Amino acid sequence: MRYEVTPWEVRGQVDYDRLVKEFGVSKITEELLERLERGAGGLHPLLRRGFFFAHRDLDAVLRDYEEGRGFFLYTGRAPGRSPMHIGHLIPFMMTRWLQERFGVNTYIMIPDEEKFLAKKVESLDDVEENVRRDILNIAALGFDEDKTFIFRDTEFIGRMYRAAVHVARHINFSTAKAVFGFHGETSIGLIFYPALQIVPTLFEHRRPLIPCAIDQDPYFRLQRDVAPKLGYYKTAELLSKFVWGLLGPGTKMSASEPETAILLNEDPEEAARKIMNAFTGGRATKEEQRRLGGNPEVCVIYHWYSLLFEPDDSSLAERARACRSGELLCGPCKRELASRVKRFLVEHQRRLKDAERRARRMMYDGKLASEMWNWEFKPRRPREE
Ligand code: TYM
Repeated sequence: MRYEVTPWEVRGQVDYDRLVKEFGVSKITEELLERLERGAGGLHPLLRRGFFFAHRDLDAVLRDYEEGRGFFLYTGRAPGRSPMHIGHLIPFMMTRWLQERFGVNTYIMIPDEEKFLAKKVESLDDVEENVRRDILNIAALGFDEDKTFIFRDTEFIGRMYRAAVHVARHINFSTAKAVFGFHGETSIGLIFYPALQIVPTLFEHRRPLIPCAIDQDPYFRLQRDVAPKLGYYKTAELLSKFVWGLLGPGTKMSASEPETAILLNEDPEEAARKIMNAFTGGRATKEEQRRLGGNPEVCVIYHWYSLLFEPDDSSLAERARACRSGELLCGPCKRELASRVKRFLVEHQRRLKDAERRARRMMYDGKLASEMWNWEFKPRRPREE
């Protein structure tokens, strides 16, 4: 089946092996994981279980770290018409974990114009409420307030514009068209926007590492052509697959289709109800399931245990075994997940109460934020890599 992956649209069943080849990224090898584990003093389950599965230059990041040059983290979220769902938290959780393990600066971009330019929303006002909510959801994850800078484009543009102009001059329209599939109806704002998404990779004179899903790679492919010309580092990337929606394996979790998604601001009881209705790898009847066993490979419930709700590897393996053998039926398995998801939402919503204060520090008066409000871009002599 045909699929399409662009930064603005993911359609169809994604063939990740093919995508790795098409995009020209690399799979994360066991050897690289071991090296990351040595540097980080452990491995996050999302890495151990292969959800973050591909990369660019992760080996160079680890070399920079091992040799004392360090690196920095950069990621982002474009607010849209709907609030964030639980899957949207994943790149931020990964980023937070890397920040904690390596103690590095982290930049979080909130492009509050992107979905408007991509014509995903009708007015900037529609986005406004979600800008605030998304920032709070991210701030609630507990980034280091003195080493994290969260900024929205419409506010920080004065500091970024000079760098964006330098970046934009090095990208011609035929390249942008080939990379993003721009066409005659694309707004000229969206055609310029990639220059802005590249700017934070130039915030420090060190290698950036970007944790995100693989849909964002096209931006950073361009960055890797441009950055050396401006005397800066090519960015590295740590790339994930896409989370499954509740209605089936390989389907999209989409905040605008409520039955497919667990929204971060929803009533935990409602979230539990959706989990109880989710697609499983179970059989048509209990009797069949006891006799033939279920299939965790295609089960949305198991997918969510493995992503966020069962950190212990042996408990996860035991769950898969019990499912396959027919000992564990879908009812109790779903009920347990529903109760973990409920607990997660209650806890997240509790942390949101303190997030306003945290967000202010990370946007304006924490150590890194205060420095960034004086940041000035200077092009350097071109770099060889
Ligand atoms: P946005 O808001 O579409 O997505 C935010 C982040 O979530 C990832 N993502 C997903 N991850 C797993 N499963 C999914 N179904 C899923 N959908 C989205 C995205 O890859 C992204 O990491 N242009 C960006 C905003 C941005 C950005 C960045 C992202 C600005 N600078 C730097 C990453 C890195 C956007 O529209 O993201």
